[in-house]
Amino acid sequence: MEIKPLKISLYFSHDYVDSELELKDKNVVVIDVLRTSTTMVTGLANGAKEIIPTESIAAAGMIGRNSEGQALLCGEKNAKIIEGFNLGNSIKEYSEEVVKGKILVFNSTNGTPSLIKSKFARNCAVLGFVNMSRVVSFLKELKEDFIILCAGKDGDFSLEDTVCAGMLVSELLEAAGKNSYVLTDSSMGASKLYSAYKKDILKMLHETEHGKFLVSLGFEDDLVACSQVDKYNMLPLLRSGVIKSIEAFESDPKLTMKKVSQRNAS
Ligand code: MLT
Repeated sequence: MEIKPLKISLYFSHDYVDSELELKDKNVVVIDVLRTSTTMVTGLANGAKEIIPTESIAAAGMIGRNSEGQALLCGEKNAKIIEGFNLGNSIKEYSEEVVKGKILVFNSTNGTPSLIKSKFARNCAVLGFVNMSRVVSFLKELKEDFIILCAGKDGDFSLEDTVCAGMLVSELLEAAGKNSYVLTDSSMGASKLYSAYKKDILKMLHETEHGKFLVSLGFEDDLVACSQVDKYNMLPLLRSGVIKSIEAFESDPKLTMKKVSQRNAS
């Protein structure tokens, strides 16, 4: 029996997604290289308990104020820390001594809205260059169609997110076999774009609009941190409005109890 190839689709910006229902029950990979994906992967790798993406700065404040000190308010507006927040969106802020054990209540310009739009997804993974191989392995094992959701920049195409998406496509086709997947024009185009930039990811980041803007604000270190391919073996998933590593979800006693009760029921 002929095996039907899996499909890889791609949105260049979350603004192409009109409603959360569009991604309901789909497999989604959210990419915001500069900087939300990279910050979130780094925070979880450094021991943050979980991350809660929020619809607005006000919503973040409400959650944070009622957390009895367990939560840090995190994120940016125009790339700078939001007034009254604990952390901005600079990677170096998310050190172990700052985030270990904390709930990161998060709001940012493009990355967070992309995650909010993915809240009804069947699976939603967070991808940056820093955790590329882990996401490739997850998708190779998943063996299902998926959609790459580039955060983009204010509704427009983002070079860095699309090159990262292209790397995912190229690496997955290499790992799973070219005939395992069928590509749309957008996912095909992303893989070709990656071929043009793959020799020097950091150089590419310096050539992007947002990269230049971050450098102008003194955040050049963030470009270096965001360019480090496979720095972390981390697979952040969004489930029921919360982002954790897949291991954290799988070791959750509540979920484990549910599995035990299901097994007993069968
Ligand atoms: C975003 O969400 O648009 C970015 O993460 C912005 C930034 O951190 O500079």
